[in-house]
Amino acid sequence: LLQMFMLPLSISSELVTLEQSLGNLSAFPPNFLFGTASSAYQYEGGFMSDGKGLNNWDVYSHKPGNMIADGSNGDIAVDHYHRYLEDIDLMHSLGVNSYRFSISWARILPKGRFGKINEAGINFYNKLIDALLLKGIKPLVTLTHVDFPQELEDRYGSWLSPESQEDFAYFADICFKSFGDRVKYWVTFNEPDFQVKFAYRTGIFPPSRCSWPFGNCTYGDSETEPFIAAHNIILAHIAAVHIYRTKYQETQGGSVGIVLHCFWFEPISNSLADKLAAERARSFTMKWFLDPIIFGRYPPEMQNILGSILPEFSTTEKEKLKKGLDFIGVNHYTSYYVKDCMFSVCEPGTGTSKTEGFWGQSSQKNGIPIGELTDLAWQNVYPQGMEKIVTYLKETYHNIPMIITENGYGEVSKANSTTEEFLYDVKRVEYLAGYLDQLSTAIRKGADVRGYFVWSLLDNFEWNLGYTVRFGLHHVDYKTLKRTPKSSATWYKKFISEHGQAK
Ligand code: NOJ
Repeated sequence: LLQMFMLPLSISSELVTLEQSLGNLSAFPPNFLFGTASSAYQYEGGFMSDGKGLNNWDVYSHKPGNMIADGSNGDIAVDHYHRYLEDIDLMHSLGVNSYRFSISWARILPKGRFGKINEAGINFYNKLIDALLLKGIKPLVTLTHVDFPQELEDRYGSWLSPESQEDFAYFADICFKSFGDRVKYWVTFNEPDFQVKFAYRTGIFPPSRCSWPFGNCTYGDSETEPFIAAHNIILAHIAAVHIYRTKYQETQGGSVGIVLHCFWFEPISNSLADKLAAERARSFTMKWFLDPIIFGRYPPEMQNILGSILPEFSTTEKEKLKKGLDFIGVNHYTSYYVKDCMFSVCEPGTGTSKTEGFWGQSSQKNGIPIGELTDLAWQNVYPQGMEKIVTYLKETYHNIPMIITENGYGEVSKANSTTEEFLYDVKRVEYLAGYLDQLSTAIRKGADVRGYFVWSLLDNFEWNLGYTVRFGLHHVDYKTLKRTPKSSATWYKKFISEHGQAK
């Protein structure tokens, strides 16, 4: 074992066997996007550089008593703002043909629509996009990945107010206009289901509103606010899509999607009650956004359970919403069993609130986890979940194109961990190989999947877990910011060279 750690970049016989066991994986269609994913707050740093305004995470992470494990913040993060060229070189050496990143809204519009455009912010993304294209790497751009200008929070309570729709549409328009000649894949929001739960239910994301008996929250109403915020986000999404379709799509020829957090929920038994419970869990996560945006209505399960708590769409909104995306962005990491606990408590911590939606979610069945447990509390390795979620989405939404916008493996880093411990990341290689194998099966069976992005190119700031969890194909030394490829980088490079078909 020691020898393996000492040879971090060697492909051991173990990995070779794994490669062989993958067999023929040529299921990926021509022009399939193979990439890595990132987000502005988790990567950029440059926190007040060149006219950027304060965003919600700047304010939250600087507040004493925030809920960030190591008390850190994204002020420097991995300094992508200054090191993007070096990072593009890393991508280029992996052989990826796409890069998913997000725009820091406060870098472009420090005060939202209430102030001027920050030209230096526009310049930064122009330089980033041009440098990517020069290396044959297509940008896939998320307009907002959790962060937004603090001004919007201070003025009107951000997503709790319908005013947020106008701000987002204004921002999206500027981005389409400035970058759309070169950016052909747009994502409006990243995992809005989790964003609103964390911000308005558990309070672990700013603005930390929650009425739960724990957490570090200011006043809020956890039973209603997540649904109001989600409603505004859905309408903000459709406003941006409408702008793209009417003003830009014909000339720019790109597409717009939304990225959802797509755990696979497996019924713990074949009973109807457990199957319905799994469907409720899906409804209160990804379907909460996909149903309105594709069918123009909330999932029936949500409507039945929430009644008047769930905001309503007007007839015009419903019409505008239908088919309101060009692709579904799938972030898939793990799977859970679901047991029907709607009217009783299954096990401590699973939640019994009427509006929780996660009834009976559990990683174990009779003490046996779904897949292999990892050090990271929320992640179990269950590659079959990839095929199941993709197939489920294909069947539920009539095979609308999908892009796997995130898939990755987190390793917990301790204060005394050494670089070497992380470089030989055979577990990550096994994870990625297994999930890609299952993805290829889903594609062979007809799922229209257009791309796959590993989270993440580099280790980075993992929200409430700070820098204590590492997801990178490259290790980052947070003292020197030095990037070092892990075994998984070598493996992904080889995988792409064998299965990727076009730049
Ligand atoms: C999903 C989120 O989009 C990303 O920000 C996060 O770092 C990864 N999952 C890993 O937890």
